[in-house]
Amino acid sequence: MIVAQDPTALRHHLDPLRAHAERVAFVPTMGNLHAGHLALVTQALETGAKVVVSIFVNPMQFAAGEDLDTYPRTLDADLSALDKIGTDVVFTPRETDIYPYGSKAHTAIHVPGLGDGLCGKNRPGHFDGVCTVVYKLLELVRPDIAIFGEKDLQQLLIIKKMVRDLGLPIDIQSGATQRAEDGLALSSRNQYLSEEERATAPLLWQTLRDCASQLQADRSADVVSVLTPATTALEQAGFDVDYLELRATADLRPIDRITEDCALFVAARLGKTRLIDNIQIAAA
Ligand code: PAJ
Repeated sequence: MIVAQDPTALRHHLDPLRAHAERVAFVPTMGNLHAGHLALVTQALETGAKVVVSIFVNPMQFAAGEDLDTYPRTLDADLSALDKIGTDVVFTPRETDIYPYGSKAHTAIHVPGLGDGLCGKNRPGHFDGVCTVVYKLLELVRPDIAIFGEKDLQQLLIIKKMVRDLGLPIDIQSGATQRAEDGLALSSRNQYLSEEERATAPLLWQTLRDCASQLQADRSADVVSVLTPATTALEQAGFDVDYLELRATADLRPIDRITEDCALFVAARLGKTRLIDNIQIAAA
């Protein structure tokens, strides 16, 4: 496995691959890799392409007061996990490689509409930071395929739109959310949870599943009648709920019945830890 620490080293390793018409599949990450990340890398390896993984904790997508400084950084463990599963190249740029004059002075990419609600509302500027870094990484790696997790469904839909709008010749693929045995979606932030909070956390996924089955059982049911009591139950269990909403997957428009492909999205804080999850619901 090759570790490229800057764009010049990355180019040095990728140019010969491209000259031999090798296809490249790319998985961007912020490191602290868990089985969710590794499932995306395995999916990339299964395409038969050469696989590039980036590890970069992107300051531009963290708002003031968020966990940028304390975000877990575990480079050695990440590199050995990636090496073990057969990753070809790991790209670990420094902040100055991506933002030569700092992230605040950098040109931002804004995808209108999709990023305004849900996490965009509670984390202003977050998706501009995500889109900007993903665009820059895509330009540096120039992959044929890039893979993102359904765990961050809003992020996935925004990136798909950005790539479509900018006409980038990249096939954006998605990987299913990987979960702990009790249903909690794997996340680098789960390690912030106390023992007691960790025991409560799976209620988020159980709630999504229960709400989805109620809405599927009675497709004429108004979503408010299902989501209001579910939100109250989460709050009684100790969650501070940012949102629990039904949105169309086509454009993330709020909808009140299952009339098209859609998803229930939730974000809630347990103590200091903000957890997100979603469940997709097909129209028929
Ligand atoms: P990060 O949180 O490290 O996640 C990297 C990729 O792993 C994302 O595509 C995310 O959706 C996916 N992922 C995370 N948890 C997952 C799980 N439990 N199951 C399946 N996939 C999972 O998302 C980011 O980094 C950043 O915003 C990034 C896209 C790298 C831009 O900085």
